[in-house]
Amino acid sequence: MSLPLRQSTARETRPPSFVQAPAPTAVAPAAVLHAALAADRVAIPPRFFYDELGSRLFTVITALDEYYPTRTEAGLLREHLPAIAAAAPVVGNTLVDLGAGDCRKAAALFPVVRPQRYVAVDVSVDFLRDALGELQRHHPQVEMVGVGTDFSQQLQLPDAVPPGRRLFFYPGSSIGNFTPREAVPFLRSVRDQMHGDGVLWIGVDLQKDAAILEPAYDDALGVTAAFNRNVLRHANRLAGTDFDVADWRHVAFYDPREGRIEMHLEALRDLVVTWPGGRRRFVAGERIHTENSYKYTVAGFAQVLADAGLRSVGCWTDPRRWFGFFVAVPA
Ligand code: AVI
Repeated sequence: MSLPLRQSTARETRPPSFVQAPAPTAVAPAAVLHAALAADRVAIPPRFFYDELGSRLFTVITALDEYYPTRTEAGLLREHLPAIAAAAPVVGNTLVDLGAGDCRKAAALFPVVRPQRYVAVDVSVDFLRDALGELQRHHPQVEMVGVGTDFSQQLQLPDAVPPGRRLFFYPGSSIGNFTPREAVPFLRSVRDQMHGDGVLWIGVDLQKDAAILEPAYDDALGVTAAFNRNVLRHANRLAGTDFDVADWRHVAFYDPREGRIEMHLEALRDLVVTWPGGRRRFVAGERIHTENSYKYTVAGFAQVLADAGLRSVGCWTDPRRWFGFFVAVPA
């Protein structure tokens, strides 16, 4: 008896491919953290928020009543996606999703953008495997590549991403976690990856009253406080420190002159933190700076784009003007 041959159908999917790019700096995370603890004013870079628990806590933050950016941006995209897509040609491009995570935000663009290839970028390919596999099953015709790379300083796509016209998608106002001085070279590195012809879609949180901003970073349930204090658990694992999270309180405030939310951890008592080969004394009230989240005006962010060699061709805002979604092309 012969078995029927398996029919190949149009819906049959190839698996996505994955590439983990080497870290752009030779400095190991433990060395970064030890150096941070040796400085007069301690500042831990915000990328250390995102261990597995930190990533989950951030997902919960995006669902909080007080944290308006995620849902405001989603509303803007729901309402204006066709107009945003019409601002600069995007159909059939390579869609490059910066900070893709669960890939859901980019997946919502597929019906309009109709990408030929989807490149999901995140710090680790391990964050992307499940989501990209699932997405590939729903879109068998789209070539999918998962790229693990730390793009917190600059973006350098590996050679595994073929050239071709690229639409970069950088939602969520993650650009606000760069200082404006850092944002310019970062955006310039994105523009360089367009090879003279590409488009950037970028979400930017806008300046507003502190009475709206501060609760978004200090919510009633204490989720943002847990997210902030979790950085100490992550540091303990990476750098061998012995932080006790119970010794630290979450502090978040808006500085209107700088146009930024600052997050800190404040020591509740005099204490000493030790690690193999080092120690650091903190006095009660001393703070560790963990994050800046810059808020822009529309004109201010258009200037940042211009400084990076990009030209804003459109900006969509919600009726309260809380959030802006920019489309930019090489100048
Ligand atoms: C990821 N980033 C845009 C968030 C923000 O709003 O700056 C991180 C965050 N920190 C506290 N809450 C959310």
